[in-house]
Amino acid sequence: MTDKAILTVNDKQFERPLVTGSEGGPAVDVSQLLSLTGLTTFDPALANTAVCRSAITYIDGEQGVLRYRGIPIEQFEHNPSFVEAAWLLIFGHLPQASELAYFRERLTANELLHEGLKNQFHYIPTDAPPMAILSAMVSNLACFHKQFLELEDAEKLVEAAARLISKVRTIAAFSYRRSRGLPFIYPDPSLRYCANFLHMMFSLPYRQYIAPPEIEEALNLIFILHADHEQNCSTTAVRVVGSARANLFASCAAGVSALWGPLHGGANVEVIDMLERIHRGGLSPEQCIRDAKDKNNPFRLFGFGHRVYRNFDPRARMLKTLCEKVLPNLRYKDPLLDIARKLEDLALADPYFIERKLYPNVDFYSGILLRGMGIPTNMFTVIFAIGRLPGWIAHWKEQHDDANARIMRPRQIYTGSAPIDYVPIDKR
Ligand code: SDX
Repeated sequence: MTDKAILTVNDKQFERPLVTGSEGGPAVDVSQLLSLTGLTTFDPALANTAVCRSAITYIDGEQGVLRYRGIPIEQFEHNPSFVEAAWLLIFGHLPQASELAYFRERLTANELLHEGLKNQFHYIPTDAPPMAILSAMVSNLACFHKQFLELEDAEKLVEAAARLISKVRTIAAFSYRRSRGLPFIYPDPSLRYCANFLHMMFSLPYRQYIAPPEIEEALNLIFILHADHEQNCSTTAVRVVGSARANLFASCAAGVSALWGPLHGGANVEVIDMLERIHRGGLSPEQCIRDAKDKNNPFRLFGFGHRVYRNFDPRARMLKTLCEKVLPNLRYKDPLLDIARKLEDLALADPYFIERKLYPNVDFYSGILLRGMGIPTNMFTVIFAIGRLPGWIAHWKEQHDDANARIMRPRQIYTGSAPIDYVPIDKR
């Protein structure tokens, strides 16, 4: 097995070493390429470029493997504790009982919002997009928790992580209540993380919502399945902002904004819109597949395809199983589930999708499950963000703790004008 790559440019050869990790294929180390050869690499969407070393999550796209700190994602199916998975991702090991108890206590202690932050909700339009509110409020936490703008020690990081992970839940619930014109329901310190979120979402001043165990467990698993996914678009946004030594709140707010995109975390909303169009008769599953294949049609089969997975996204399998387990208990027969199954069968049997190795991804079934739990479509990506927050924090911390980390500043291929002179306005 060779340990170097040889680049020949104008009959001159340059050797570059290969970099290998604990799993996965080797990479050509081009970190000195510009200084040695005067050449840069060109990789517009970074599809062929490893931007860092990371020990947090491992994905094998060919085999459909996903592991958090080495633990296969499937093993969380029967141990759905999102708080435990958050600690694992951020601090690198499953928490001891004492660590878990401490983290839970810090999450409970930080579940309220500063009243100044809470009052800002009253000036937000009731039809404001929840992801806009979330991005603004996460950034706004920097105004109310200035002591966490610098995270010089591990204890402070634990507290900052607890504040973010706890408050993002309250912010999400308050944005939902605001959109419905409902009074805010304060968190209940006696409830666990997911039950408390559902309480803040669905309780009424005169009647507390007690989440059925299967719903609480389903939400735990949904958050876990969304918790991290190595260098995805939003995590890369967090790393880019964090590489400038920007604080954790500002970096995570950037992650929220990237996640909002319909090609990324916003896809779970697009999937439901697509399925509802089919359900309302505006589109047939067969026409949907035809449109997705039509290069002249901007339509894509949302919830399908992935930059890394060239096999089933293991999360999609687990979410499909969860749908089939939970929805019948809710005496909730969602016609969209049958349509999703039909679309999946058509796509998986279609040469276009087979040749391009396009399979259901995490977003294909998540929305159907969230609908069944009573969560409105415009909150789906917010749910994704609550789940992904521990991953963002873990990657921000990993980069922050790396003494060799540098500010990210890629190069470009310039295609603009040759040098020209300024022309005064009266001569243009
Ligand atoms: C997430 O990175 C992550 O890990 C993300 C994520 C995470 O946990 O953070 O997993 C979460 O974002 C999941 C993806 C959610 N997005 C969608 O479901 C939107 C629909 N999917 C596509 O837009 C697309 O598959 C992407 C964005 C997911 C991936 O895009 P790529 O890697 O840039 O793939 P591509 O556009 O180069 O597609 C390759 C080919 C093209 O056809 P050809 O030019 O080769 O003929 O496949 C086609 C594409 O047109 N294609 C699709 C398609 N996805 C790819 N055609 C129809 N429908 C699709 N969904």
